[in-house]
Amino acid sequence: MESSHHFSMLVFLLAVLFSLSCATLPHEDFLHCLSHSSNGSSPISNVIFKPQNSSFSSILESTIRNLRFSASDTPKPLVIVTPSTTSHVQATIRCSRTHGLQIRTRSGGHDFEGLSYVSRVPFIIIDLVNFGSIDVDVENRVAWVQSGAVLGQLYYRIAEKSRTLAFPAGTCHTVGTGGYFSGGGYGLLFRKYGLAADNIIDAQLIDVNGRILDRKSMGEELFWAIRGGGGGSFGIVLSWKLRLVSVPETVTAFTISKTIQENAIQLIHRWQYIGHELPDGVYSSVTLNTVNGTVMASFSSLFLGGSDELVSLMQERFPELGLVKQDCIEMSWIDSIRHFGQIQNQPLEILLDRNFKTSLTSPYYKAKSDYVKKPIPEMGLRGLWSMLSEEEAESAVVGFFAYGGIMAEIPETANPFPHRAGNLYKILYNVGWQEDENVNSERYIQWIRRVYDYMGSFVSKSPREAYINYRDLDIGTNNEDGNTSYAEASIWGRKYFKNNFNRLMRVKTMIDPQNFFRQEQTIPPLISSRNKRAH
Ligand SMILES: Cc1cc2nc3c(=O)[nH]c(=O)nc-3n(C[C@H](O)[C@H](O)[C@H](O)COP(=O)(O)OP(=O)(O)OC[C@H]3O[C@@H](n4cnc5c(N)ncnc54)[C@H](O)[C@@H]3O)c2cc1C
Ligand SMILES: *[C@@H]1O[C@H](CO)[C@@H](O)[C@H](O)[C@H]1NC(C)=O
Ligand SMILES: *[C@@H]1O[C@H](CO)[C@@H](O)[C@H](O)[C@H]1NC(C)=O
Ligand SMILES: *[C@@H]1O[C@H](CO)[C@@H](O)[C@H](O)[C@H]1NC(C)=O
Ligand SMILES: *[C@@H]1O[C@H](CO)[C@@H](O)[C@H](O)[C@H]1NC(C)=O
Repeated sequence: MESSHHFSMLVFLLAVLFSLSCATLPHEDFLHCLSHSSNGSSPISNVIFKPQNSSFSSILESTIRNLRFSASDTPKPLVIVTPSTTSHVQATIRCSRTHGLQIRTRSGGHDFEGLSYVSRVPFIIIDLVNFGSIDVDVENRVAWVQSGAVLGQLYYRIAEKSRTLAFPAGTCHTVGTGGYFSGGGYGLLFRKYGLAADNIIDAQLIDVNGRILDRKSMGEELFWAIRGGGGGSFGIVLSWKLRLVSVPETVTAFTISKTIQENAIQLIHRWQYIGHELPDGVYSSVTLNTVNGTVMASFSSLFLGGSDELVSLMQERFPELGLVKQDCIEMSWIDSIRHFGQIQNQPLEILLDRNFKTSLTSPYYKAKSDYVKKPIPEMGLRGLWSMLSEEEAESAVVGFFAYGGIMAEIPETANPFPHRAGNLYKILYNVGWQEDENVNSERYIQWIRRVYDYMGSFVSKSPREAYINYRDLDIGTNNEDGNTSYAEASIWGRKYFKNNFNRLMRVKTMIDPQNFFRQEQTIPPLISSRNKRAH
């Protein structure tokens, strides 16, 4: 008995070894396919990283921005491709399709749920780190930027050529243009100039068939969809043409922090009536967080002008805040990016560093969003404040960002981003924690879900709106195998896109009817065999 047991064990082990060494796994066929698409001038073998390669982990981790998705049990890609030519991207799409592998495209890696580098089905990553060129044309006030360039690099290249040109985008300089533009993209200038996506005038996209399309050849429907419909649904955007905007040589920033004893609740309550009505040259936000064990509300602004003008404006509109000139800092527009990015003490060249680890978020975090259409009563704000005093909220931030200005004038259908007129402000909830607290991660996630439940009665309803760039898988997801029904997808889809969701599905049906490009929250095609359950 003993020996026959050993014998069968041996056979079993041999069988395992044999299957490991001899069976062709899908990604081996894939690699074989890729190696055959190479051409002499730019061999694709130089940009393929397998797990055995000593650089694999460092490339994978280089832009993981949320360590929740860097655990040993987080699914890893079979291969990472860092294309350096368009033909590398085309070959990777073709071979992935042929061999049944999913692609996750990564630009800056800031997705709140890690969707650009994690998938539960076998997948590869196309990392656009080598697509980072930026070409600024001051005379025509336009720029071409490739998707792997980050916002800081774009700002730096603009500022290098002009002190009075800018682009309306976010303050965290390591955010990738690829994902950020795809989801709309707001920042310090959005009340005056709209979202980043509102200022995109052309783009280059590779579709599921490997075709290279620009605005003209893709047509206005697809061009509409890629400016706010979220990354990952329509193809791989390689570059964007931007319309630059004017800024004065001097801009002014302030931040005033208040405790509950300093009437923070009353001031926030009042701000809800004032923020969205401010002139469009003022960016205005309130952030709530814990500083040295005390919850504080910080009122911040960036003003496109000098401090005297800003002080008199705020004294007229919001005298309760008590802004005085000493609170104000005048600076150039490029320095306002460093100021709000909390890197004001770093050299300007820090903006070029796409791997810089920002202190704007905790190493581990979970985030959610809301839109507010009616002022929240003081009682409601008090409840939120007391949740911020709880232990789990030590590294939590809740931000209110005033809407209004041009955001209320751009029609809801101008691009897929629908949160325009009627919004007083948007809320970002973020709860963070450190490595040694990660064993208790569930506590923090439960905390933010409780806050979200609590806020439900004060925020937008039917749908409860959310911002796609603040990705939140709690609000609903597609099936992993791509057979999501319209009814399932529209649960999360209507929150992000309202009625634009239907139009997005029509575009998806046109450009990728087989739903090759898919993730947990990508637009499903309307009519496909995979989608039968919808009918
Ligand atoms: C610290 C921090 C600060 C932030 N600040 C702001 C802010 O001020 N304003 C704001 O609006 N948002 C902000 N965000 C959210 C940010 O806009 C989104 O996370 C955005 O998707 C990040 O883009 P990325 O290229 O870095 O992300 P990635 O993780 O690379 O991509 C995000 C999504 O887009 C897809 N994708 C990426 N590249 C492409 C491409 N080239 N073509 C097609 N699909 C693509 C990915 O597959 C994924 O689904 C912030 C996020 C963080 C972490
Ligand atoms: C890793 O992969 C790169 C790109 O294919 C290659 O140039 C390099 O030699 C590889 N390194 C190792 C140690 O295998
Ligand atoms: C080979 O690569 C170059 C550079 O990307 C490209 O221009 C060319 O079209 C490619 N040729 C083929 C046959 O793929
Ligand atoms: C928090 O505490 C530290 C150390 O005691 C102190 O240096 C810092 O100024 C405090 N911050 C605030 C905002 O009070
Ligand atoms: C489709 O989705 C359901 C879950 O809703 C799943 O049970 C089923 O196996 C999926 N796959 C196919 C190919 O239908």
